[in-house]
Amino acid sequence: MTSKEYCGREYWIKENLRYTHRYFRTLKLAKIVNVMSRGKPCDLLDLGCGPETLSSLLNQNVSYFGIDIALHRAQKHLMEMDITRNPIHFHGNTFDFVVAAGLFEYMGNCSHEKYAEILTLLKPNGKFIVTYMNMDHCTKPSFPSWNNIVTIDEFKEGLSQHYHVLDFFPSYYSAKEGDLESELMRKLQLNFNLNIPLIGKRYGVNYIFICSPKDAVGNTSLGRYGRNFKNAQACSPCRPN
Ligand SMILES: C[S@@+](CC[C@H](N)C(=O)[O-])C[C@H]1O[C@@H](n2cnc3c(N)ncnc32)[C@H](O)[C@@H]1O
Repeated sequence: MTSKEYCGREYWIKENLRYTHRYFRTLKLAKIVNVMSRGKPCDLLDLGCGPETLSSLLNQNVSYFGIDIALHRAQKHLMEMDITRNPIHFHGNTFDFVVAAGLFEYMGNCSHEKYAEILTLLKPNGKFIVTYMNMDHCTKPSFPSWNNIVTIDEFKEGLSQHYHVLDFFPSYYSAKEGDLESELMRKLQLNFNLNIPLIGKRYGVNYIFICSPKDAVGNTSLGRYGRNFKNAQACSPCRPN
């Protein structure tokens, strides 16, 4: 696979079954959403939802919706769509949270167009929560299907063209690339949401970014996840149909 080739449904229908496992990243994302939603009814759209593993970890106040290129079952709250070929939408609905975990590594040169589309899916105080692999991790991670490989700084810079990056931190620190397996480390790191600059670069396995739309300047509901703000720029073209 060359750097900008995309995997299709036939690849993902098998591959995304690996994500029925409750990876630490998924536990951490669920915890963040559960804390941020503060028990209030809210809607969440999981982009690249795969087998909906996140859904089983969310509190009952969070109504779950998902989009994926390869769904395993047809359900009202799910929509099958290749988002590199179609503008992202969900029957005209908007959401309090849009989550994209382990997706943007596969977005080729579509990232900016997708960031712009996700803006239209967010309610005024909505949050975009996105993960991205730390390509600078000491194990030098690589995967043949990744077609969007940038550093964490470049990824954050791209996001910052469309969003306020309120907070970002490694989902976990580890000298190994795989999932966090030690029960002790899982317990210790579940509530540890800090970016330690040099250590994060080397040992942060993948990062979580919590973002709000650029135009939500008056947004005061940043909760415990609000810190960093930057300026807006234009977006670039994506994949032709
Ligand atoms: C690495 S898996 C992550 C699954 C899940 N979000 C998680 O974190 O456990 C990437 C997911 O994105 C979906 N995906 C990949 N390319 C896509 C595309 N072009 N449009 C929609 N979904 C896509 C895959 O089917 C898969 O479920």
